[in-house]
Amino acid sequence: MSLTGTPSTTPQFSFLLRSTLIYSCWITACVLADTTGNGNAIIAPVLPNNTSNNSSTGQASVLANGNADNGGGKAPAILNKTFEVHTASQLINLTINWKIDNFIFLLDQAELRSPLVSSESIGITEADGDWQLILNPTKTIAGKDYVSLNVERSGATFGNVTGRFGFYILDKKGGEAYSLFDEITNVFTVDPPENFWGWEKFIAHSVLLPSLKPSLTALTTPRKNLLVNGALHIRARLEFLSPVLVTGALKE
Ligand SMILES: *[C@@H]1O[C@H](CO)[C@@H](O)[C@H](O)[C@H]1NC(C)=O
Ligand SMILES: *[C@@H]1O[C@H](CO)[C@@H](O)[C@H](O)[C@H]1NC(C)=O
Ligand SMILES: *[C@@H]1O[C@H](CO)[C@@H](O)[C@H](O)[C@H]1NC(C)=O
Ligand SMILES: *[C@@H]1O[C@H](CO)[C@@H](O)[C@H](O)[C@H]1NC(C)=O
Ligand SMILES: *[C@@H]1O[C@H](CO)[C@@H](O)[C@H](O)[C@H]1NC(C)=O
Ligand SMILES: *[C@@H]1O[C@H](CO)[C@@H](O)[C@H](O)[C@H]1NC(C)=O
Ligand SMILES: *[C@@H]1O[C@H](CO)[C@@H](O)[C@H](O)[C@H]1NC(C)=O
Repeated sequence: MSLTGTPSTTPQFSFLLRSTLIYSCWITACVLADTTGNGNAIIAPVLPNNTSNNSSTGQASVLANGNADNGGGKAPAILNKTFEVHTASQLINLTINWKIDNFIFLLDQAELRSPLVSSESIGITEADGDWQLILNPTKTIAGKDYVSLNVERSGATFGNVTGRFGFYILDKKGGEAYSLFDEITNVFTVDPPENFWGWEKFIAHSVLLPSLKPSLTALTTPRKNLLVNGALHIRARLEFLSPVLVTGALKE
């Protein structure tokens, strides 16, 4: 057989199938080998060179050896098999609604913090830590005042967590009257500064508090009622990935 010879480097990944078959993949090829060494169904490169490293459906052709004892010369039979791989995961959505009463009296507070939510309590079992919203009522940037809002992971000891999040201000009817959603994912690390993500300029005071700081736009566009009886109603939506599970099965 010419198609023998396993690449000598360590495979990128491999699976043991039905206790004696091992399916191994390198960057350019995968092979299916019989670990019992009985001479049958040894090797075939199966995936095209530019197959991505992503788990997906792979087409595997297994070339079976003819039986060398019965005279040789017999054309090898081609058995086509398909190896189905599924990388499964689901999103964990966490919503935090935070009502801050008498917000306009708190503008000179340095920082307001929501209670902590632990990773364990929301099902992030692969990494520890607590999650908390941090709001600065007045952050002055280039002479302009903003409310800044961030989410922080604290008290973590192992593992990064990938998440996405968005922040909203709810109106009197609970509708999301103002929103900023980060479409990309962020990696929350164990140590600062990348355990902390959000917006320094979540909303300008001139937009949130138009009557305090009238602006030209406030005169021309209808005012949104972002404060309800002086209260600021914040919503945060956080999305995390649950533990990832990879399964595979060889189909005849
Ligand atoms: C490699 O990938 C390109 C683009 O995805 C595709 O057009 C081409 O057919 C692939 N080649 C092989 C050998 O699979
Ligand atoms: C993969 O690449 C090798 C060498 O780069 C080439 O000999 C072989 O024909 C390629 N196979 C495919 C399926 O493109
Ligand atoms: C697959 O991963 C290896 C290293 O992990 C990398 O060198 C290679 O470029 C990757 N190939 C593709 C197609 O992404
Ligand atoms: C791998 O999967 C990701 C997400 O599904 C995709 O964005 C990326 O293009 C894939 N890479 C390759 C080389 O196919
Ligand atoms: C296996 O695949 C080859 C090439 O695609 C094809 O010619 C052959 O008929 C297939 N054999 C079976 C048993 O499906
Ligand atoms: C989680 O959030 C995403 C995007 O916001 C949404 O598409 C999905 O339906 C939500 N999942 C659940 C279980 O609520
Ligand atoms: C955690 O994320 C940081 C920043 O993206 C990265 O530099 C670091 O290597 C990651 N650590 C692990 C264990 O993946």
